[in-house]
Amino acid sequence: MEENTIKLLNRLSELKNERNAVILAHNYQIDEIQDCADYVGDSFELSKIASETEAQVIVFCGVHFMAESAKILAPEKTVLLPDIMAGCPLADMAAPQKVREMKKKHPRAAVACYINTTAAVKAECDVCVTSANAEKVINNYPADEFIFLPDQNLGSYIAGKTHKKIILWEGYCITHHRVTAEDARKAREALPNTFMMVHPECQPEVVEMADAALGTGGMLRCARESQETRFIVGTELGLIYRLKKENPNKDFYLLSTNMICPNMKFTNLQKVVRSLEEMSPQIEVPEDIRIKAKTCLDRMLQYS
Ligand code: 13P
Repeated sequence: MEENTIKLLNRLSELKNERNAVILAHNYQIDEIQDCADYVGDSFELSKIASETEAQVIVFCGVHFMAESAKILAPEKTVLLPDIMAGCPLADMAAPQKVREMKKKHPRAAVACYINTTAAVKAECDVCVTSANAEKVINNYPADEFIFLPDQNLGSYIAGKTHKKIILWEGYCITHHRVTAEDARKAREALPNTFMMVHPECQPEVVEMADAALGTGGMLRCARESQETRFIVGTELGLIYRLKKENPNKDFYLLSTNMICPNMKFTNLQKVVRSLEEMSPQIEVPEDIRIKAKTCLDRMLQYS
C-alpha cells in the first residue's frame, strides 16, 4: 500500500472516532472506498442501515439521491456526500411538476418511484421501491394501477412480474440503457456456458437474453450461493471488485466495457477524509419535503 494511502487511512480512522461517523458505500464505489467502508451494499441495504445506525455522522459514498434518502430517514444525523457533484442522471429525469401532471392524467393510479429520485419527487409519490424489492412492493401495495418512475426498463421488468397495470415513465440509467442486445450476444459468444446476470435497469431485450435479472445485492447473493463458477455481469464495473473479493475461486466478466457510471467514481479516499475534516458537503432536505418523502420510503420498508 502506498505511503499516502496509509496516511489517509490513519487520518480517516482518527476522524471517524472523533466525529462518531459511519462510512456507507454503494456496491459501485471504487475499490479503495469499498475497502475503507463500514458497510458496502445496495440501495435498499444502505437506506436501512442509515435508518438504524447509532453513529452521529453518515458519510455516504454513493450519489446524491442515496445521501438524501439517508437524511430523510435519519434527519438528526449529519449526512456528508464527499463529492457534491456525484449526481444521478436517471434521478434527474423526473421532476415534481411532471409527476403532478401525470397524476392528473391518471387519477386512479398510485405513484411508485424508484429510489433513484430526488427527495422532492419522492414527496409527490405514494411508495418507493429499489430493484431488490420492486416486485414485492408493487404486488403488496393496495393499488391495481401504478405510475412507475423514472426507470422505464425497471418498470417494464416489473410489468412482466405482476398482473397490475404499470404506466411507464420515459427515463433510463445511461450506464445500463446503453448496453445492447448485440453486446449481450457478443458476450455470450465470447464466453459460452457462462451464467449471465443483468440489472433490471438494462433494456428488456438484454434482460430477456440473461439467465437472471437482479439488483446488485441479488447478484452478490447469486454468485455466493449458485453452483455456477463463471458469470457475465451486466451492471456497473464497481460490483466486479466485490464479487471477486467475496468469491476468489469464481470468475466474473463485465458484460460490456461501457458499464461505468462516472458519478459513482467521483468519490475517493482523499475526498472522504476531507469531508470529515471539514464536515462538508452536508446534505439537507427541507422539513416539509422530508416528511412527505419519508412516508414514501417508510411504505417501501413496510411493503417489502
Ligand atoms: P441497486 O439497488 O441494485 O444497488 O442499484 C442501484 C443503482 O443505482 C443501479 O444503477
